[in-house]
Amino acid sequence: MIELKDVCYRYRDFQGREHEVLKDLSFTVSKGERIVLLGINGSGKSTLLKILDALIYPQKGSYIYKGKKITKREFKKIAPLFRKEVAFLMQDPSAMLFNPTVYEEIAFGPREFGFDDVEERVYEIAEKFGIKRYLEKPPHYLSGGERQKVALAAILATEPEFLLMDEPSSNLDPPTTGWLIDLLQELEVTMVVSTHNLSLAPEFGERVVVLGEGRVVYDGDLERFLGDFELLKRARFLHKHKHAHKGITHSHYHLHDWDL
Ligand SMILES: Nc1ncnc2c1ncn2[C@@H]1O[C@H](COP(=O)(O)OP(=O)(O)OP(=O)(O)O)[C@@H](O)[C@H]1O
Ligand SMILES: [Mg+2]
Repeated sequence: MIELKDVCYRYRDFQGREHEVLKDLSFTVSKGERIVLLGINGSGKSTLLKILDALIYPQKGSYIYKGKKITKREFKKIAPLFRKEVAFLMQDPSAMLFNPTVYEEIAFGPREFGFDDVEERVYEIAEKFGIKRYLEKPPHYLSGGERQKVALAAILATEPEFLLMDEPSSNLDPPTTGWLIDLLQELEVTMVVSTHNLSLAPEFGERVVVLGEGRVVYDGDLERFLGDFELLKRARFLHKHKHAHKGITHSHYHLHDWDL
């Protein structure tokens, strides 16, 4: 369904200096797969998800979606269909909320794509997400977790095929995170989801793509990755910091949320 081949992406800073974030990055995604994207801060996860959502385009290499190469020029031809099929929950949900009310926010996609049951859709999804009481409120009145739910409701209202999510649980409390996992299990979608939460990662998918220094440093079974000290160290997921116990200070490699 999706193929990334030798993708390169660099940002230019305000002084004109270039920073290469993705270097020769390649992997494929088959229909129905659920891929967990891991990598330390700044490793390029959000950049990669933006490429997959065609918000930015590879500067070298290629992104092929359902057999079509996504370039700036080619994208214009398939944009309406692509936007209907592919949905992206951004790392900062506030960046996605631009309508005056939560109702309008959720109704926007179904209206845009010509659904004839917009109102029913909005009420049905608001009920499912427990956000009915906010429908007439402006999105910026809501808490971070509530905004995350509204942003997700808004993109799922059009029943996408390919769901991209950037740290979807980062604003959620434990019960809401459990609710999200249940919700995602029910969906029939192809999914790429980034997370830092290693204990939650297996709930999102079985295959992991790990980014390091712009490349894929591991692509395969997630449980194997999580159980392999050397792989975790290579991906810089293990960290050291000082512990103080009863006057004795020491440091050692460890993970905070995963028992090795
Ligand atoms: N618009 C931009 N202009 C310049 N540099 C950028 C821009 N967006 C990202 N970068 C840089 O690219 C690198 C990768 O950023 P990206 O947001 O893709 O990382 P990430 O893996 O999602 O990190 P995090 O885990 O913190 O969300 C970072 O060093 C970042 O500073
Ligand atoms: Mg990010």
